[in-house]
Amino acid sequence: MSLLIRDVVKTYAMEGEDVRALRGVSLEIGDNEYVAIMGPSGSGKSTLMNIIGCLDVPTSGTYHFDGIDVSTMKEDELAAIRNDKIGFVFQTFNLIPRASVFHNVELPLVYAGLRPARRQRLTDEAIAKVGLADRVKHQPNELSGGQRQRVAIARALVNDPSIILADEPTGNLDSKTGAEIMEILDQLHAAGNTIVLVTHEDVISRHAHRIVRLLDGRIASDESVTDGPVLPASQAGATHAPPAADRRQAAG
Ligand SMILES: Nc1ncnc2c1ncn2[C@@H]1O[C@H](COP(=O)(O)OP(=O)(O)O)[C@@H](O)[C@H]1O
Ligand SMILES: [Mg+2]
Repeated sequence: MSLLIRDVVKTYAMEGEDVRALRGVSLEIGDNEYVAIMGPSGSGKSTLMNIIGCLDVPTSGTYHFDGIDVSTMKEDELAAIRNDKIGFVFQTFNLIPRASVFHNVELPLVYAGLRPARRQRLTDEAIAKVGLADRVKHQPNELSGGQRQRVAIARALVNDPSIILADEPTGNLDSKTGAEIMEILDQLHAAGNTIVLVTHEDVISRHAHRIVRLLDGRIASDESVTDGPVLPASQAGATHAPPAADRRQAAG
């Protein structure tokens, strides 16, 4: 897994006036990194995440995802990369209201065209990883906010993405529930996943091992956090997720 962003500019045309959301951002993210993107409201965090997640393309500059130049791709090509390689977690969960936990988590595998038996197995695994095996038949409105976000994380994980992107994943949760969600992200990172999250809370960013700060569409600082939290050995990778590397090898 590698992301290589070079001199990315993103300009939105707004009623004849250009909004320069990103003004020349260069960023490289490698395998199994755990990155927090911070910065004040309007500094370009979501715009950068949308580009990293192949939801949008830069106005200028380049973006290579696993060596592939995605910066000039058309929407259908971007969608294929998103479905195959990227897991998204949003502040507002973005679950399908009238569908069960199982069907919400299964959906990416339906899009990927997997057969029902394999979908069943992978969906059950992902739901078990976030500790919701006893809630598979519930609908989102029958779950707490923290449980909904765990469903969203299971959905993000289910097709074994190269990277998990989370834009303010704890923004709609109380601090205790937010801490539980971060514990799951910590475990996924310990199990080998690459995670990039946006937050404006220091207590959340401290979970990451690298903090990138944006200001007015530019990177103001980019530092590794050496004294980040270390999981107790009893938790590292054991509770929720098997090592991603093992799963990739198994998948060939
Ligand atoms: N779709 C859009 N159309 C026009 N302007 C936008 C759009 N998305 C974001 N912007 C503008 O770009 C700037 C950066 O926005 P955003 O990336 O959402 O910042 P953040 O996530 O850090 O709050 C802001 O000035 C915002 O108003
Ligand atoms: Mg935002």
